[in-house]
Amino acid sequence: MSRVVLLSGAPCAGSRVERIAAWCARQCLRSGAEAEVFTGDDLDFPSFRPDRPDRDVRQRRYLSAMADCDGVVLLSPAYHGTLSGLLKNALDYVNDLAGDHRPYLDGRAVGCVAVSAGGQAATTTLATLRVVAHALRGWPTPMGVALAGPRAALDADGDPADPVSRDRLRLMLDQVLDLAEFSRGRRGSRTAGIPAPADPAGV
Ligand SMILES: Cc1cc2nc3c(=O)[nH]c(=O)nc-3n(C[C@H](O)[C@H](O)[C@H](O)COP(=O)(O)O)c2cc1C
Repeated sequence: MSRVVLLSGAPCAGSRVERIAAWCARQCLRSGAEAEVFTGDDLDFPSFRPDRPDRDVRQRRYLSAMADCDGVVLLSPAYHGTLSGLLKNALDYVNDLAGDHRPYLDGRAVGCVAVSAGGQAATTTLATLRVVAHALRGWPTPMGVALAGPRAALDADGDPADPVSRDRLRLMLDQVLDLAEFSRGRRGSRTAGIPAPADPAGV
């Protein structure tokens, strides 16, 4: 069974991003995958510092989930045109996985969802999420989802209300799950044992 980790980069409980993350997780479960959501509270870590390698229980749980997963979904509100600092900080912690047998997010599909109040910021945020996923050696899915203004509305149950938005999210999740299957088959094969480059910026 494929394992998908969903990171909700909104700091506030009950936010639209968090509700959309929960809906995406349910779609993954319906498709037969395992899905684990990390909310803003779960990801509210101190600023990442490479010179402070000690990790607490929450951080270890998060890093273990990231190391073991077959696919990732990143969801962020647009904060001044880009992803939230909370999510970026949590992704910086993935640096701890540089020496893993699958360094960083190597070979893992990464679906990206950006949510903004206005019309523009979801697109710039989506582009940045994909750049960060790529820098972590993940595979951004061809379908990314930018939900601006009314496209991000929720219905009475707190699920995405807009049928176009639901279709886009489902397509993105299908791609994550298809690639996750591929990634599972590839585990321990070609890139296993190849160490991360000394210069992570070389990715
Ligand atoms: C600090 C901050 C910065 C924001 N910057 C933008 C922005 O640049 N463009 C925009 O359209 N919305 C901006 N917003 C609105 C958020 O994108 C919007 O609240 C969020 O996507 C809605 O999701 P939420 O309910 O999960 O917070 C900002 C909100 C905050 C709190």
